[in-house]
Amino acid sequence: MIPPTNPLSDNAEARPYVPVKGATVRRLTASAIARRKGKSAFPVVTAYDAPFGRFAEEAGIDVLLVGDSLGNVVLGYDETTPVTLEDMIHHAQAVCRGTSRAHVMVDMPFGSYQVSDEDAVRSAIRLVKEGGGCSVKMEGGEHVADRIGAIVGAGIPVVGHIGVTPQTAGLGPGYKVRSNREQLLADARAVEAAGAYAVVLEVVDRDIAAEITQTLAIPTIGIGAGPHCDAQVLVLYDLLGMYPHAPSFAKRYAQVGDVATEALRAYADDVRQHRFP
Ligand code: KIV
Repeated sequence: MIPPTNPLSDNAEARPYVPVKGATVRRLTASAIARRKGKSAFPVVTAYDAPFGRFAEEAGIDVLLVGDSLGNVVLGYDETTPVTLEDMIHHAQAVCRGTSRAHVMVDMPFGSYQVSDEDAVRSAIRLVKEGGGCSVKMEGGEHVADRIGAIVGAGIPVVGHIGVTPQTAGLGPGYKVRSNREQLLADARAVEAAGAYAVVLEVVDRDIAAEITQTLAIPTIGIGAGPHCDAQVLVLYDLLGMYPHAPSFAKRYAQVGDVATEALRAYADDVRQHRFP
């Protein structure tokens, strides 16, 4: 039987989610995540499909990000910029089908929010309404504050993303550690003031990430930003050893890519040697 409330959270405000007719379960809400600020660090992981969403949820991870890293690790692009809104909706739907309680954040892909507030709100609505996402994430600091405000104003929770912003990595110093303290603090404050309920700090100097974490009232979610953030996020394929270009800060917890290659080699050998079927 499906539990009436989310057993993973202290979540009084969980919003109903109805994946199958008659079966109402509750997902962790943005406000419940925001209330984790300053408590013990919590894990976030990216997910792109139903089985890995389920594995993550079974492992007790209740915040999943359908990241536009989808472009690199699943779709085979060199960048995240080719990822479309349709791609994100398609993969968000799969993650939602594979999970029942986790909060599913969905990245706004490049091109889905740059042109205008109206465009951004329309894109965010599609990610929630068609994709099933619980909230959306958007790259940028001060210069996207109005966009964040517009989407929050439309009733959709938003996560900010500052530091290294892969969609526009070509404009700045690429993937180098960000250490411009004044700008990072200004970006973090702007994102919070615009109404974001959390903010990703990607490849930010660890002392500055600690200061931002102390300064903001919303949780910081670090990736390559040191140990003092309220949460940590890793790209699933990096942590499982399924992506050859993982950044150096990404701890590898398994070599799933090697296991898969070995299994496929064994199968191929069996067929060639008439051991299977
Ligand atoms: O797309 C993604 O996976 C992300 C994480 C790196 C935070 O944005």
